[in-house]
Amino acid sequence: MTFSPPFAHAPRRQVLAPSAWRPTSLDRLLIGTPHYPEHVDDSYLERDAARMAECGFNVIRLAEFAWHLMEPREGAFDFSLFDRAIEVFARHGISTVMCTPTATPPRWLTMAYPEVLRVDTHGRPARHGSRQQADTTSPVYREHSRRITQAMANHYRDHPHVIGWQTDNELNTTASESYAPGTAREFRRYLSARYQTIAALNHAWGTDFWAQRYDSFEQVDLPFELAPSFANPTQVLDYHRFLAWATAAFQHDQVAILRATNPGWFIFHNLGQLRDIDFRGEFTTDLDFLGYDVYPFLKDEIERTGCHAHHQAFMADVMRGYAGNFIVPEQQSGLGSQPGFATPVPEEGEMQRMAMSSIARGADGVLFFRWRPAHFGAEIYWNGILDHDDVPRRRYEEARRTGTTLQRIGSRILGTSVRMDVGIAGADYDNQEAHTTYPLGLPSPQGASLPLHRHCFEQGLPCGFLHPEDDLSRLKVFFVPHWVIWKDEWTERLERFARAGGTVIIGARTGTRDANNHVIRDTAPGRSLSALCGITVEEFGLLPPLDGLGLTDKLNRPEGALVLPTRPAESSRRAHQLRVGDAVLPAAHAYELLKVRDDAADQVTVAGRWDTRFVAGQPAITIRRVGEGRVVYVGTYVTDALAALLLDAVLADLPIKPLLPHVPAGVEVTLREGEGRSLLFILNSRAEPVVVPDVPAGLELMGDRPHAAGALRLSAYGCAVIQVSP
Ligand code: GAL
Repeated sequence: MTFSPPFAHAPRRQVLAPSAWRPTSLDRLLIGTPHYPEHVDDSYLERDAARMAECGFNVIRLAEFAWHLMEPREGAFDFSLFDRAIEVFARHGISTVMCTPTATPPRWLTMAYPEVLRVDTHGRPARHGSRQQADTTSPVYREHSRRITQAMANHYRDHPHVIGWQTDNELNTTASESYAPGTAREFRRYLSARYQTIAALNHAWGTDFWAQRYDSFEQVDLPFELAPSFANPTQVLDYHRFLAWATAAFQHDQVAILRATNPGWFIFHNLGQLRDIDFRGEFTTDLDFLGYDVYPFLKDEIERTGCHAHHQAFMADVMRGYAGNFIVPEQQSGLGSQPGFATPVPEEGEMQRMAMSSIARGADGVLFFRWRPAHFGAEIYWNGILDHDDVPRRRYEEARRTGTTLQRIGSRILGTSVRMDVGIAGADYDNQEAHTTYPLGLPSPQGASLPLHRHCFEQGLPCGFLHPEDDLSRLKVFFVPHWVIWKDEWTERLERFARAGGTVIIGARTGTRDANNHVIRDTAPGRSLSALCGITVEEFGLLPPLDGLGLTDKLNRPEGALVLPTRPAESSRRAHQLRVGDAVLPAAHAYELLKVRDDAADQVTVAGRWDTRFVAGQPAITIRRVGEGRVVYVGTYVTDALAALLLDAVLADLPIKPLLPHVPAGVEVTLREGEGRSLLFILNSRAEPVVVPDVPAGLELMGDRPHAAGALRLSAYGCAVIQVSP
């Protein structure tokens, strides 16, 4: 059988700058699975390849944990296992994405160069025996990473079936920090390049607090946790800026080698826990597109977020906000487990529904994790498409249905991007990190945007995340969820957006710190935002949670720290309520008392007031008319009730409407559009069938049949993609 792979040495399409609206540079939708030939003998390969071809797969991903096989001794390379696998899969029309294997260094390396091991905040070095034990800030480790990358790149330089690369595997997922002496040296080098003089560092870190002033960079240390009390928040922020810089530099070494060796390869990374990575920085501009591993059940377990369908949608939107369309290099297929945890199992139909949800929100490829479970190691119960006994059962059938459908309709999806009418400010590394250095028990900017996002998800309003420096012109609403660090040039962009008819919503605490993480000396929310919103913030304070537990329970307290006793009854009396029109609703997290500026009195209306005790009657939500649009300031956090009230009542004249007139509970709707196509994704995230009324006419791509305008019936977890008639 002759086969010419789709991508072989295709010239790289011009990669546009990262933007939430950017499609990928792929020339076909990727469908496939990671494969581990090192976990089976060669007799499996032919059968695996034939079955994958039957599933419509066009790609496998190989080798991310196989450094020890490819370089069994320092400088001695052997790629024969992977060469054999690539050939077998290629004969069945399946191309290969290779991975640099740097998440798992071989034992000879950690024996010969123990200085590459991470050290935790208590001084304990990581050990060989799991993964991500090597410190990516280590120059010694970087040298080895370059060596193995160059050797692999040289070996596969002209290979017609190796079409692209994944760098490492989920950088920073297991651990991102290190407190090794070598890490401290690199941190000092980073600081001295950043600040040039120690006086500048002393100023930025505010070292006159608690007598921290330094005379030279050599005196500066890493921010050890509780040694013995809290570290300087700007020192902590700079440590995380350093980690993000070092992660990008580590990846850049590999990308530079791969690009120089074969510019036809596409390169991405598979993101996991999203720690210590600046997604709008070099980490992302180095890549063709991002990858995001989809394990919503796991996240549900860890973060107790409740509905995994919404959580998956939320994270996909966060991901698209970094750099536009992305791929899913891993998606959970069955029971997920490591020795310390186990997740629920995706039910029949959910594997497909999850894949379609990612695609509906900007994925241009999905690989199911994994083809079959391992029989040994720390993931023996992480099930795959096949089971341990290699018998194809319901997950195989579902992969086959999904894969063959996507193979058929993929070209209609590629090139489109996801419609957003409501934009949420996202993708700002400094803001996410600055919050973490001093959270005050408040939700992070991302966490605080959950209620508004959930409202849009449930109503079928097209929504997503994007940075204020991205193209806002296609939005109708832009919400800034409590970004403490603010740049005046962003105010100008927001003002332009409002003047042209947009609605800006600014959340409490925005603009209250500067780039050094210091509290600003002007009245909040700072000069430019205050002028834009037409208000000042006269006072702020925290509110106890609505369940009446005391505030101190919410603060990120280290173990052993002093705990103040709280009485639920007393703390719940300290909750405040808001009055918005006729509605009275409880407020959460924080209150601010607003004052309308004299110079804006004729443009500002008060849309909501505090309604309890000493704050009663004071402005809590204001709206300033700006050009054709307006700027809303919300002096508290947006709860589920407030999100609904804001979009449905306070801003009822917004030019936004749900993508369908009636979106039944549990139905997810998005629109991908571009290149003359409008694709309406309608997905049932529930185990019961549903009838969706008033669906417009078009061609239903998954079933390949026309849909006449009217009701659409979806089975349990059923999916439809309607190419809407023009
Ligand atoms: C991902 C990781 C995979 C595998 C999977 C299931 O985070 O990239 O290697 O571990 O989780 O645990």
